[in-house]
Amino acid sequence: MTQVACPSAGNDAARLRKAVRRRLLPWFERHQRVLPWRTNRSAYRVWIAELMLQQTRVDQAEPYFRRFMKQFPSLKRLAAASEQEVLKCWEGLGYYARARNLHRTARRIIKERHGRFPRDYETLKTLPGIGPYTAAAIASLAFNRDHAVLDGNVIRVLSRVTAHEGDIHRTETRRALQAWADALLIPGRAAPFNEAMMELGAIICTPRKPKCERCPLAGVCAARRKGEPEKYPRRRPRGAVPHKEVGAAVVRNRKGEVLIAQRRAQSMLGGLWEFPGGTREPGETMPQCVARELQEEMGIDIRVGERLMVVRHAYSHFTIALHVYRATLRKGRPRAIQCADFRWTPISELRSFPFSRADLHVVERLQAE
Ligand code: ADE
Ligand code: SF4
Repeated sequence: MTQVACPSAGNDAARLRKAVRRRLLPWFERHQRVLPWRTNRSAYRVWIAELMLQQTRVDQAEPYFRRFMKQFPSLKRLAAASEQEVLKCWEGLGYYARARNLHRTARRIIKERHGRFPRDYETLKTLPGIGPYTAAAIASLAFNRDHAVLDGNVIRVLSRVTAHEGDIHRTETRRALQAWADALLIPGRAAPFNEAMMELGAIICTPRKPKCERCPLAGVCAARRKGEPEKYPRRRPRGAVPHKEVGAAVVRNRKGEVLIAQRRAQSMLGGLWEFPGGTREPGETMPQCVARELQEEMGIDIRVGERLMVVRHAYSHFTIALHVYRATLRKGRPRAIQCADFRWTPISELRSFPFSRADLHVVERLQAE
């Protein structure tokens, strides 16, 4: 049994390309899901959809996409909106730099390009938040340019079909798989090719228990022939994920309003609002941490009361336990020292600010009281 090594391994590449044409594309025509970004296709819609889908599963992204299009039906409307409105619409989707960048990019296309979307890969890549994947996706799906996309789904399909042994976190592996994708791309049919590869990875060649018996590429798949498709793509074992213990305060004033802070633009979750607080330092108790953080962040002295709740949340590179305490102001007036802005807000109005997912749990709890 020969192992498919690289696209120049002629024979295998030719067999694969044939299977893609004869089986994969017809399979896609028949089995593709009806998704909102597949109808009424424009560069604008493709762009928003692909950005959402980069770090979010289709079923989770779909309602967000519908709401987004309702609220910002055109590039022009998006450019005219405020960043806060865009973040609010993105609330809960995560990776908020995507939302901030798309807003900046919309304004740039309106201002510098008279609202005309760039069509070629290289120009697309110069825009904020548009990397190789998104540029290839827009160029191919919206303008049918010959660019092969390599997202997580395509990486999985290609590493299995070719039984590629390289660690997917290595640049060489990415490069080799990109070369495979380029070699298999059918000139002039980039859009259906790319979407078919992504769709196959999403619904048939799934991370666990791939449905090989229903797969249009089963006849040419090296991983299947070896009998262990789930072993691909190869990856080094993940190290331990760091964990942070974070404390936050729900400070109330006499009117019953609560103090919220806006995160600084450059920080993770930048532009979003939160209950002020921060990471516990060694030797501190959680209430001590909360008191110190409010002093540093907003220059106020607070009385930390009972614990309201603990929210556990996993981000891409670490996990947090957010310990939330009730508190009252003892001394001082809040200032935006280590935050971008702050507000005293009635509980009923908290929902008009964009919060991260962890803090949204706190908002919900307060509103249920
Ligand atoms: N994942 C990312 N983009 C996709 C698309 N256009 N279709 C299916 N899955 C996707
Ligand atoms: Fe994936 Fe199985 Fe199809 Fe190979 S045969 S591409 S492992 S679903």
